Amino acid sequence: MGRSEDGRLLLLEAPLALFPGEVVEAQVIWKARHGEGRVTRWVTRDSRRAEAGCPVAESCGGCELWEAGRHAPDLKRQMAADLLRRQLGEAVPWTWHPAPDSARRHRIQLHWDGSALGYHQRHSHALVPIRACPAAADPLSDAIPRLQEALAGLALPTRPGRWELSTGTPANHVWATDERGRTWLLEPDGWHRSTEPIVHRLGGATLRHEPGAFFQVSPPWAAEAFGGLLRTWDLKGATLYDLYGGVGLFSALLGARFSHRVLVESGEAAVAWARRNLEAADLPSECLVADVAAWVPEGLGATGDVILLDPPRAGLEPALCERLATAGAGQLVLVGCDGAAFCRDLKRLAGAWSLDQLAVLDLFPLTSHVECLALLSRRP
Ligand SMILES: C[S@@+](CC[C@H](N)C(=O)[O-])C[C@H]1O[C@@H](n2cnc3c(N)ncnc32)[C@H](O)[C@@H]1O
Repeated sequence: MGRSEDGRLLLLEAPLALFPGEVVEAQVIWKARHGEGRVTRWVTRDSRRAEAGCPVAESCGGCELWEAGRHAPDLKRQMAADLLRRQLGEAVPWTWHPAPDSARRHRIQLHWDGSALGYHQRHSHALVPIRACPAAADPLSDAIPRLQEALAGLALPTRPGRWELSTGTPANHVWATDERGRTWLLEPDGWHRSTEPIVHRLGGATLRHEPGAFFQVSPPWAAEAFGGLLRTWDLKGATLYDLYGGVGLFSALLGARFSHRVLVESGEAAVAWARRNLEAADLPSECLVADVAAWVPEGLGATGDVILLDPPRAGLEPALCERLATAGAGQLVLVGCDGAAFCRDLKRLAGAWSLDQLAVLDLFPLTSHVECLALLSRRP
């Protein structure tokens, strides 16, 4: 983040990281109140820049912070601080939770163009062929050449398209899912059609879901970070409203801290898995297929209840924020993977809910993305 000579805000993005104080050339599009640009050349380089630990770091669109090296967590903390200061003001306290070195992606999206397999280039659909990915869990990275060989050898459907490689926790099996949702499990002699779910054993919680469906990208680290924080905040009560609940991650992590759970999620398959996951964990729950904005009634919950919302990147609809202003629940937890949308929603909720805790988690190492989490309580 910078400023132009006339004081307008300038948001810059750079492949491989950008350190404060570096002098760069960039292509910038100026709007009325701010500019957005991409760095095209470094004029001066910070001495802390490291050599990228990935041969395709410069072109691949999967990561952005390789050259920040061991300073990446500090840079991200600074980016988060800039965002929160700009959106919420100087005085709001927050905690920062950097990722452990062991955090790796358990889900990666690759593209097959009919002859090569790889990631999309940054800001383009051009292919960057790869044979390995250091940001992914080892078994996933090792499976990339096996997928390439199977596609080239016609052992898997060869139509160009997107493939997702995913693994469970621990990461001991690898599934490949094509655009049509068909799934193959990698075995020593090759890929075999599979209808098995992916299993994540996360501390005391076990969660299953279909390969190719949404789940946290780095599940062991996400479960540790979310679980630790919500326990520190001493979140507990009568009913947990787990809204945008997926296959039940938050309900399972919070477990017996609540007597009952109501999970609402739009994906039918996810809800079916949430039901099974929570039943197997002996956690009485109602799991409903619905659009959260349409489902949330006026006056949701009672004083001892908690509403937890973990929406997609776009955040909460304005009408939903208005309805939440009438809720009877005593506490609300907002989770968001887009910092700007998250802060906008906090401001929309501020009339009825006061901010008690704010945390930023580095759930997406090597990228500029963070996960934000807030605990709010009902204003008297
Ligand atoms: C960020 S994910 C969170 C899932 C879950 N809380 C977890 O951590 O695994 C958002 C979830 O909301 C679901 N979703 C998206 N739009 C929705 C809507 N309008 N109503 C209900 N659920 C929705 C998606 O299917 C996805 O499972």
